[in-house]
Amino acid sequence: MRGYSVRAGNPFPLFFLRCEHLRDVECNSTQTSVIHFLTLIYQIHSCGRVRLVMESALTARDRVGVQDFVLLENYNSEAAFIENLRRRFRENLVYTYIGSVLVSVNPYKELEIYSKQQMERYRGVSFYEISPHIYALSDNTYRAMRTERKDQCILISGESGAGKTEASKKILLYYAVTCPANDHMAALGDRLLQSNPVLEAFGNAKTLRNDNSSRFGKYMDVQFDFRGAPVGGHILNYLLEKSRVVHQNHGERNFHIFYQLLEGGDDDLLHRLDLDRNPQNYKYLVKGNCPRVSSISDKNNWKTVMKALSVIGFSDEEVQKLLNIIASVLHLGNTHFGEGEEGETHITTETQIRNLEKLLGVDGSALREALTHKKLTAKGEEMISPLNFEQAMSARDALAKAMYGRTFTWLVEKINQSLALKDELYHSSKGSSVIGLLDIYGFEVLQHNSFEQFCINYCNEKLQQLFIELTLRSEQEEYETEGIAWETVKYFDNKIICDLIEEKHKGIISILDEECLRPGETCDISFLEKLEGTLGGHPHFVTHKLANGKTRRVMSREEFRLLHYAGEVNYNVNGFMDKNNDLLNRNLKEVMCQSDNQILNHCFRREEVIDQKRPEMAATQFKNSLMKLMEILMSKEPSYVRCIKPNDAKQPGRFDEVLVRHQVKYLGLMENLRVRRAGFAYRRRFEAFLQRYKPLCPDTWPNWHGKLADGVSTLVNHLGYKAEEYKLGRSKIFIRFPKTLFTTEDALEAKKPDIALTLQTSWRGYRERSKYQRIRRAGSGAFISFNVFVLIRFIKGFIYRHEEYCPENAYFLDHVRYSFLMKLSKNLPKNVLDRNWPTPPPSLVEASEHLQRLHLQNMVMKYCRRIQPEWKKQPSEIFKDQKDSYPQGVGKREQINLKIVQTLGNDKVQYGVSVVKYDRRGFKPRPRQLLLTNTYAVLVDRTKIKQRIDYNALRGISVSSLSDGMFVLHMPNEDNKQKGDAVLHCNHVIEVVTKLAMMASKIDHVNINPGRFAVARGKEGIIDFVRGSELKVTAPRINST
Ligand SMILES: Nc1ncnc2c1ncn2[C@@H]1O[C@H](COP(=O)(O)OP(=O)(O)O)[C@@H](O)[C@H]1O
Ligand SMILES: [Mg+2]
Repeated sequence: MRGYSVRAGNPFPLFFLRCEHLRDVECNSTQTSVIHFLTLIYQIHSCGRVRLVMESALTARDRVGVQDFVLLENYNSEAAFIENLRRRFRENLVYTYIGSVLVSVNPYKELEIYSKQQMERYRGVSFYEISPHIYALSDNTYRAMRTERKDQCILISGESGAGKTEASKKILLYYAVTCPANDHMAALGDRLLQSNPVLEAFGNAKTLRNDNSSRFGKYMDVQFDFRGAPVGGHILNYLLEKSRVVHQNHGERNFHIFYQLLEGGDDDLLHRLDLDRNPQNYKYLVKGNCPRVSSISDKNNWKTVMKALSVIGFSDEEVQKLLNIIASVLHLGNTHFGEGEEGETHITTETQIRNLEKLLGVDGSALREALTHKKLTAKGEEMISPLNFEQAMSARDALAKAMYGRTFTWLVEKINQSLALKDELYHSSKGSSVIGLLDIYGFEVLQHNSFEQFCINYCNEKLQQLFIELTLRSEQEEYETEGIAWETVKYFDNKIICDLIEEKHKGIISILDEECLRPGETCDISFLEKLEGTLGGHPHFVTHKLANGKTRRVMSREEFRLLHYAGEVNYNVNGFMDKNNDLLNRNLKEVMCQSDNQILNHCFRREEVIDQKRPEMAATQFKNSLMKLMEILMSKEPSYVRCIKPNDAKQPGRFDEVLVRHQVKYLGLMENLRVRRAGFAYRRRFEAFLQRYKPLCPDTWPNWHGKLADGVSTLVNHLGYKAEEYKLGRSKIFIRFPKTLFTTEDALEAKKPDIALTLQTSWRGYRERSKYQRIRRAGSGAFISFNVFVLIRFIKGFIYRHEEYCPENAYFLDHVRYSFLMKLSKNLPKNVLDRNWPTPPPSLVEASEHLQRLHLQNMVMKYCRRIQPEWKKQPSEIFKDQKDSYPQGVGKREQINLKIVQTLGNDKVQYGVSVVKYDRRGFKPRPRQLLLTNTYAVLVDRTKIKQRIDYNALRGISVSSLSDGMFVLHMPNEDNKQKGDAVLHCNHVIEVVTKLAMMASKIDHVNINPGRFAVARGKEGIIDFVRGSELKVTAPRINST
């Protein structure tokens, strides 16, 4: 190779055209020095890639702040923190890290950083290699799930309007676009994405803070199969703000769907629903006096929602019934009452009752009665008592809220059915293949805060607690695994506030429940007094009565104040009891049960009416669902997105420092930074560190061939790092001060011109030599015409073509070599199976062989890189560190019966091995031989072929992660010729599976930790692998599918 590159006339075009292969070679550090040299030349000439390598955000820190807050020199200064955020925000750099936490500032404008190309940029790239991005976090989480085989979750927090929902949508989109698609679930990505507009239409509304504010909490699990393709999803919804259905604050709207229906629904539909296009005509839509929002197109969104409903799998009939309910809520809002002379209440709007009768399929007179009377059971006897005017109004509102709230839950269930791969698979998701996304209401402080804000802020307290525990814990764990001593950091533990709210018997929720259940005269004020009595003196609880003079002036007598970790909030107790009770009169429930609208039928169950037991109160239900959520999140590896809103006016380019400072404070970002910095500001895996800084030390440049830790040690010694500046862990270097890193980075920056100069000099030297030779050759024939000269030299060269390289044949051989290389550059094989390779001239045979080998290596490498990171290794390393039996799993050659060889005819056996096959029923072991040809595998019983498995048909290969030799060959269910999957055992399982996977080109279909296999059509078996001292096989569990 060395000789070739020096002698061949003009080899460079080839390298310039195919330089990415060479780069790959360099990355894999298998390069000869020539390849390395060429690679570097390539780097000089391909500016785009060089920029990517050189222009790290570390280098550009002065211009755009630091991309990771841990690199802030003055990490205790809030002002420095905010200044960094501001500088980056000004440059449209809305993302910044605190270690592995992503801080995101809402740009309030479309940035061109979310394209498909951007997704590709972040795919498979290490977190710190490239500027911070939501895609980097998404990709990192995905890779952690794949490589560490642990469920992950991404927790997105921030106040209303900070960009949580947008972030969650971007993450989902990233997975939908970049993950491999599953054949059977090709449409899943679509359905996952389409669930968003539907949930937003029914669960989002315009508030003062956000034109598209989520009024419910959402946790979504995305489930991936063993190849990393999304195969299922599941949504948990939390506490929808139902009160919005009947009331909106000034400047706010009801849920989007109402306006979408009126604006977007066609005339026929509105006619059928007896609706009129003007939202001002509906009492439930006028409270906020804000029918239209400039940033929202209700008409377009209506189309999107209708399309999304059909993609998700809602039938036309279901959509119709759903809209009947939405329209009914509006009719209910327009149902009015009058008071008779004796104070009895009656309905004055008969048209609305007729509409409700028609749309909900309920009995009109029963509904009329239920809206104006209450059914009571006293001492086992049923009594009907009339409602007064106010009671009738709240019964009506309670019905509207219940109908809407329950329909929303039905909607989520329906979406879940559409996203679920298989229920039992979801629930028994033992495989580490889930990424959870939490987009839940942010901390909310309004002018008037009620029960809803109380619940929302309580939820944020819980999440903060989780955040503290998990960030501290993971940091500590990292130091432990790396063997580095840990220093503790003080932080505010908000457990005291969580207890204040949720503690049994003594917490606010318990007191509220008690007051709701207590017989006798109870009201919101009696609840407040109870709170004062029980919680007076608590450092985080204040009321007007308990407050000092200054606080008293800013609190009303109906309020209590909680000193949340994020700030103080006054809650007005008015409505707390009603909202917690969330009562719907029994006779109204009865009417709904009898509805012939299937959705309502599903939402209002008979059992609920019969069951006398009181359901849990709203706050307790919420508390319990949060407890469950915490359990779910605790079982997963968390990543965090902390969203910040730069101003309250939803304007681009405006950075309101006071507002940002407040969020930085209550999101606990400074504490987060301190925790991260208490140990070491910067950490990096040995290989990444060495790769970046190796040019700074003659011993590590261009390559270090020893142990990575020794290489890093040599490098930092050469750089003069002091002992207190860094520590070497087991796989990472930890650097204590940013300054150390910056000095190193500056040294690298200073070194780059040198490196470039050396390379440029070499390149120029080469170019000049070639030029000189060309001129010399041309000059010697100046007296004859150039063409004749060339011809003569060509003929002469042809005559001497078999001789050693000499002046006579130099021109000819150069030309032939050049032509060959040019031809080759245009005809390189596109894949590993393509064995075509242009025939080289005799003088280039050796070089051609080298190139062919290199090219093949590069194709394999590129292929491996395209598939999953854990498969990047050599195929035979697939199992290293994943399968206990790896070392002994590689076997010897096998004797094949002659008869079998004859039967196989031209299909030569490439590989054979003894296996034990287990019967699908009974699970009896049968000794067999597994032989692999180029296109199929056969299972042989001495002289008979028992089963033939075509590679094309092979769906996958599964092995366990333990030291057993079991493996399963998955065959298509629909193939009648196949009896089911083959369950096999082999002492050389690593070898046999690797060979099979390679020969069948199914490397990416190898599944470690299978669980299931098909026994026969429609029957599934489950294999449980249990650690034990010996191999013992018992019959599998069989399921019908
Ligand atoms: N990354 C972003 N790029 C552009 N606009 C954004 C981005 N994040 C948020 N926004 C804008 O801010 C609004 C509020 O964001 P949203 O995610 O709904 O807030 P949250 O869910 O935190 O209440 C969005 O409707 C959008 O206009
Ligand atoms: Mg939201």
